[in-house]
Amino acid sequence: MIPKIFLKLILLCFLNGLNHARTYQERVNLYEQLYNIEKEVNFDRVFDKVKDKTLTKYPVVLVPGYGGNQLHARLNKTDAPHYFCQLKTSGFFELWLNLQEITPYVIDCFIDNIRLEYNNETKTTKNRDGVETKVNDFGGTTTVEYLDESKYSVTIYFGAIVDALVKKLNYTRGVNVRGAPYDWRKSPNELTDYYKNFTKLIEETYEMNNNTKVMLVAHSMGNPVSLYWLNNFVSQAWKDKYLKNFVSLSAPWGGASKTMRLMASGDNIDIIVVKPISVRSYQRSAPSTAFLMPNDRFWTRDDILVTTPFRNYTVYDYEDFFNDIGYPLGNEMRKNTERLIYHFEPPNVESHFLYGTGLKTPESFTYLKPKDFPDSQPAVTYGDGDGTVNLKSLQGFKKWIGQTKYGIYNQEIPGAEHVATLKHPTTIEYIIQLMYN
Ligand SMILES: *[C@@H]1O[C@H](CO)[C@@H](O)[C@H](O)[C@H]1NC(C)=O
Ligand SMILES: *[C@@H]1O[C@H](CO)[C@@H](O)[C@H](O)[C@H]1NC(C)=O
Ligand SMILES: *[C@@H]1O[C@H](CO)[C@@H](O)[C@H](O)[C@H]1NC(C)=O
Ligand SMILES: *[C@@H]1O[C@H](CO)[C@@H](O)[C@H](O)[C@H]1NC(C)=O
Ligand SMILES: *[C@@H]1O[C@H](CO)[C@@H](O)[C@H](O)[C@H]1NC(C)=O
Ligand SMILES: *[C@@H]1O[C@H](CO)[C@@H](O)[C@H](O)[C@H]1NC(C)=O
Repeated sequence: MIPKIFLKLILLCFLNGLNHARTYQERVNLYEQLYNIEKEVNFDRVFDKVKDKTLTKYPVVLVPGYGGNQLHARLNKTDAPHYFCQLKTSGFFELWLNLQEITPYVIDCFIDNIRLEYNNETKTTKNRDGVETKVNDFGGTTTVEYLDESKYSVTIYFGAIVDALVKKLNYTRGVNVRGAPYDWRKSPNELTDYYKNFTKLIEETYEMNNNTKVMLVAHSMGNPVSLYWLNNFVSQAWKDKYLKNFVSLSAPWGGASKTMRLMASGDNIDIIVVKPISVRSYQRSAPSTAFLMPNDRFWTRDDILVTTPFRNYTVYDYEDFFNDIGYPLGNEMRKNTERLIYHFEPPNVESHFLYGTGLKTPESFTYLKPKDFPDSQPAVTYGDGDGTVNLKSLQGFKKWIGQTKYGIYNQEIPGAEHVATLKHPTTIEYIIQLMYN
């Protein structure tokens, strides 16, 4: 899900405007100035705890969430929303994330490039005409450590975890810490090729590391995406052979209320200068948004998600909800994605669930006046969670307790925001300790 920290990022971008760090190493260096992992994490304490244990450098494969890896695009379009939008590019450029494009008006060009089109016959999506996208560096970490490749290393994603493994445990990027980026606009039913490559990546990583079992580390939507693969693409014997464990960070197991507002009115991801309605057309078009809508195993008929002067909507009213917001295709996308992990089979591999709590998290939305629905922003009622995902969804793994012979462990991290969990000292300490037997 989209980081709440973007407003801060924009400010930092202005502050760092003169700092043109271009190469990967330069970005890493800039990041280190801004965020000093040595200061944040008490490594002496961690290593003290494990001093009588032996280190096994389990290779790590990182599975990002919604928005959690870079996407590149090449354009050959014939039309665009504004005269200043680029129509053609000679090569691929960074589509997500380029913070310079997240400004008023310019954002419309970006939205037109990143939005998908849904085919209600084939139940699949494609880029709009004239846009070609690709995911770079599958198996490497460059597209999952930082999101904005141009200048601003402040868009840290898996960077802190990778940094800790490399600096403190002598891991090597691309060898025993590897990324599995994908087109996160799509939901698991459209990721079959990715999943096949992912299985190969794990096998290859195991072999490259002297037949050492792999640790799977997923964030946010990367968790349901991984669960679908664990439940459908690999056998139990395969899992027992290749996987050491599954480390699940900030998982929206039952979805998140926030997606209701995204669908209805758009969500400016806390960037005040951007009108939510200007990003809505993209947000609605991604089947992964539909995949992350609250589901009826976690939300009941009593949980009102959206209220208007005319009626209330719960998880049982999606068809009406989509008709009433004027986006009936959304209901088709929802029907296509809602059953994917609905049966909620356990991962059947040793699992560790880490998640933030105690932050104001959107729970339901109220449109006070008839004319506000759906194009104006609603009033928000908050509940517990990590700021993005509701607590009951983060704790969805509890349904597996007693359902599997594989260990289920969890660590609540009070005050850890959805994305900030990735660089929280508790997360880093936890992962390091898992390397010691
Ligand atoms: C761009 O698209 C046009 C059709 O709109 C096509 O004729 C042309 O070959 C394309 N150019 C490239 C470089 O793909
Ligand atoms: C990492 O490498 C350094 C230098 O070779 C060595 O001193 C250190 O003990 C190694 N650390 C681990 C955890 O293997
Ligand atoms: C999977 O791997 C093949 C071979 O490397 C590549 O051509 C293809 O684009 C990959 N597909 C996805 C969805 O990653
Ligand atoms: C690979 O594993 C075998 C058996 O587990 C061990 O004896 C050997 O030292 C390992 N080799 C390396 C390079 O770690
Ligand atoms: C929505 O639900 C609330 C609480 O159950 C109820 O008081 C209200 O009348 C409902 N609104 C409509 C329009 O049905
Ligand atoms: C999508 O296709 C189905 C038939 O497969 C049809 O019943 C439905 O009305 C279509 N929905 C939209 C929004 O076009």
